[in-house]
Amino acid sequence: MIVSAIKENLPGEKMVALTPAAAAGLIKHGLDVRVESGAGIAAGFSDAVYEKLGVTLVADRVELVKQTDILVQVHALGANPDAQRSELAALKRGTYIIGFADPLTDKTAMRVLSQCGVTLLAMELVPRITRAQSMDALSSMASLAGYKAVLIAAEKLGKIFPMMITAAGTITPAKVFVIGAGVAGLQAIATSRRLGAQVSAFDVRPAVKEQVQSLGARFIELPVQEAEAQTPSGYARQQSAEEQQRQRELMAQSVSDSDVVISTAAVPGKKAPILISDQMVAGMQAGSIIIDLAAARGGNCSLTRPDEVVAHLGVTILGPTNLTATLPVHASQMYANNIVNVLKHVTKKGEFILDMQDQITRDMLVMRDGNIMNQAVRRLLELPEADVSAGAGTG
Ligand code: NAI
Repeated sequence: MIVSAIKENLPGEKMVALTPAAAAGLIKHGLDVRVESGAGIAAGFSDAVYEKLGVTLVADRVELVKQTDILVQVHALGANPDAQRSELAALKRGTYIIGFADPLTDKTAMRVLSQCGVTLLAMELVPRITRAQSMDALSSMASLAGYKAVLIAAEKLGKIFPMMITAAGTITPAKVFVIGAGVAGLQAIATSRRLGAQVSAFDVRPAVKEQVQSLGARFIELPVQEAEAQTPSGYARQQSAEEQQRQRELMAQSVSDSDVVISTAAVPGKKAPILISDQMVAGMQAGSIIIDLAAARGGNCSLTRPDEVVAHLGVTILGPTNLTATLPVHASQMYANNIVNVLKHVTKKGEFILDMQDQITRDMLVMRDGNIMNQAVRRLLELPEADVSAGAGTG
């Protein structure tokens, strides 16, 4: 089977879905790997390096898509509204697409892909279970984003992070408050600690308290939840409007005491909860920084504007939506490894095997030959529930 990676065309994206090393691994696994010429350059991987490892370079993008059995992308249609329609027309019915595709939100993209008759495995639907950790690209990307958010904050803040005892006096450490201690949040805590900041964090899931503390941060206990905070899949449950309001009131002090707030609170497939209000920003010291990692889903701060810098009463609020594009080498390396592990999971001797008894395959499979298999996506598209356990969903 032919596996291809094309040049990512989301504006500002520098990542590539297959690095040369990952491509070499797939060739060894019995797959024929092709890459669009120049696809890896922005991430530091030249065509020559791919070629040396046995990858076929193809200059004509549409021609490459036509040849492809399995298209691997960072941003498939859905996660990339600007995707070129000419490529869609080139897709054969039954082509496999593996990538981020925003399947739980983007109705139009899911309808278009369904009409193309493709089989879509969405990287954001890899379940967070131990067996799937090596495929979990959301975690790979969130970890890098958490790290980079802290570096941006440190660069923007007019203070240093560590305590310094100098002949010119003692400087107290910067105070960082992290909201949401999932993958991005924990990495933000670890990075802030490495830079010497005094870190505190809050999450609605009390289960993360120990992890926060083991990184040397203080876990702020706020009695916010009225019901179980965690779903069986390990993610946070969506809070009610009253719970969010109560959380804002309880968090106001922690926010106003901080030099830097890094917010990462997210519930899969839902709009981000607004946890930092205008009034809370007004209560912060001038010069403070908020980095809102949830900006792409509306943001955790009421003042966040995606990919813009907002200044409010001396406080700077940034909502970068694609921080991994600023770390394309390692982001591509991690993403490509996740893709390779997915491909190894769903192919045997060069052939695709979709085992619907397997949770990883079942969760990731959005559509098969255009038939929507994922119940949440079926609901989004207002399709009736269907028994898809045997792999026979209807479009
Ligand atoms: P995650 O699901 O691992 O962590 C989110 C955390 O937020 C969970 O621990 C959850 O319990 C917590 N949470 C939910 N509601 C909360 C509330 N009301 N108060 C406090 N905590 C709450 O998600 P992950 O992978 O760490 O991603 C976090 C965010 O970062 C997401 O919005 C994701 O889209 C974003 N992200 C942004 C990137 C960028 O470049 N801007 C790159 C990668 C991820």
